[in-house]
Amino acid sequence: MFYPDDVVEEVRSRSDIVDIVSGYVKLQKKGSSYFGLCPFHHEKSPSFSVSPNKQMYYCFGCGAGGNVITFLMEYENYTFPEALKVLADRAGIELPKQEMSKEAKAQADLKMTLLEINKLAANYFHYQLRQPHGRIGYEYLTKRALSDDTIRHFGLGYSNKTSDDLYRYLKGKGYSDNILKESGLFTISERGTWDKFWNRVMFPIMDTNNRVIGFGGRVMGEGEPKYLNSPETKLFDKSRNLYGLNFAKSSREKYFLICEGYMDVIAMHQAGFTNAVASLGTAFTTQHASLLKRYTSQVVLTYDSDDAGVKAALRAIPILKEVGISCKVLNMKPYKDPDEFIKNLGADAFRKRIQEAKNSFLFEIDVLKRGYDLEDPEQKTNFYTEVAKKLLEFPDALERDNYIQAVSREQFINYQDLKQLVNRTAARLGPAWAESRQSAGYGSYADSARQIPLPGGTESGVTRNEPAGGGGTHRAGPKKREKEDGAKQSQRLLLTWLIEDPRLFDKIRGIITPDDFKEELYHTVAQMVFEGHEAGSLSPAGILNHFINDEAQYKEVAALFNASLKDSLGSEEQKKAFSETVIKVRKNSLDEASRTAADIGQLQEIIKAQSALKTLHISLD
Ligand code: UTP
Ligand code: MN
Repeated sequence: MFYPDDVVEEVRSRSDIVDIVSGYVKLQKKGSSYFGLCPFHHEKSPSFSVSPNKQMYYCFGCGAGGNVITFLMEYENYTFPEALKVLADRAGIELPKQEMSKEAKAQADLKMTLLEINKLAANYFHYQLRQPHGRIGYEYLTKRALSDDTIRHFGLGYSNKTSDDLYRYLKGKGYSDNILKESGLFTISERGTWDKFWNRVMFPIMDTNNRVIGFGGRVMGEGEPKYLNSPETKLFDKSRNLYGLNFAKSSREKYFLICEGYMDVIAMHQAGFTNAVASLGTAFTTQHASLLKRYTSQVVLTYDSDDAGVKAALRAIPILKEVGISCKVLNMKPYKDPDEFIKNLGADAFRKRIQEAKNSFLFEIDVLKRGYDLEDPEQKTNFYTEVAKKLLEFPDALERDNYIQAVSREQFINYQDLKQLVNRTAARLGPAWAESRQSAGYGSYADSARQIPLPGGTESGVTRNEPAGGGGTHRAGPKKREKEDGAKQSQRLLLTWLIEDPRLFDKIRGIITPDDFKEELYHTVAQMVFEGHEAGSLSPAGILNHFINDEAQYKEVAALFNASLKDSLGSEEQKKAFSETVIKVRKNSLDEASRTAADIGQLQEIIKAQSALKTLHISLD
């Protein structure tokens, strides 16, 4: 389903957000906005705001935000067309039957059909569980202590021993071999077509909208592989989906639990820990981390207690840190995984372990320690030196000191001695080493950056983002990262100001254009904001419509439109900050232009503009 922008905008503008949200959340008017308890996270005092002027909602607690359409998508788990349909019906608008480009239509149809097939397959497997020949599957699940409710909730099923009955079932529904092949459920060769899954208990994998996008199947008894997973398809991208997230996203806990497997997720949910998710048949990726970041900024790792689990945790920690999720590691011993732990010690004991989960840095130190024989003085010294090196990864002195304290407590090392060792080690290795360590990043491939010298050499270096995996790249050091963030932040701040107070457009006329917003997303937003302002119809909620197909993007744009500017531009400080921000955005834009300048003439223009900027002053009075 695809609707043209003006139709979407009509539906949106004729649905009042206060009206719709009041149907779900008790709102109270405060100033020009309404406030209530956020329906997207657990809280005791209201930080969820709805602005009738902007026609947007935003939670200052968890960052959930959007317009009336995304509200329904988030709250009701509706897809975009579903939310639009509900609102259109309410407003008495008839949605047009939409023509699409042939290609877009084919793609959309293919996806829709694959979703249908997956749904039919899930129902089919689930149904088999209750049949005589599916008994083996049902008994397996009950023996593993799953209740009927749990089996239903997760839509568990069984694939028969017969090698092609799902295939025949779906053929009977009229699907062609071509499309069935795309579903990943079958093996098709010259010699015939077989079900990929047979004699397995089946775990449907759902996306955040509760749509089945793939399956995992556990073999009955011994057999290889123990778990078989759907291959990647048009629907199923393993590194972008987490098992259980469709349920976990509406859990009211502040943190998420990450585990290794299907059974762990299910066992935890059944025991009341509905905030558990797993990455399936693949290691935890940066994409998984950014997906989680939309919902939480804290996780507890509950990986298996064996070596593989420890390794998986060590891998996941820096990936999570990188996107700004802080993490702890749960001690599962003496059990292997959450499923076994809960079965043996119960939910209360597990909750206690969650509370006692260890800070990820201290966990890393613990693991490091295992590599040394501390009875041996030389090895003990080496261990301490390694600890000191690791502590140097914290660039901030205060934070580093907190960790020196924690480590000295945990490892029974005298605090003063450890602190001295850290300082000596820093002096011995030099600042360059510390910086390279902080930015070494454990082989993560996010945020590659490379140094490009400025013509004229007025600055030591600047960074530019490159697509992940760019050849011969290394990561930016903390200073450069800071600078990059600074540029991004100024652009965001400036946009927020302009939306908050459109009179500011007059102040930046002739200085800033949308092209000065170098962040791709901000650039797109800036173009719409500037255009809207020129046309006298600046509508934040309307602009948001353009990003509705990308959850990460609309969340970022929603945040941008709702950032809280504590005081508007009243104070002298704020006025100064505004002026500085404008200059920063423009300077960053010119710096970037100078790097891509085509010839000397252009470069001279840029240099002129750069020096003019030095004397620029923007007065708000
Ligand atoms: P485990 O082997 O630890 O699974 O693999 P488990 O949950 O303890 O299995 P049970 O309790 O014996 O049934 C953890 C996860 O790794 C993936 C699956 O997602 C599994 O849940 N895995 C494991 C595979 O994808 N393929 C395999 O062959 C094995
Ligand atoms: Mn297990």
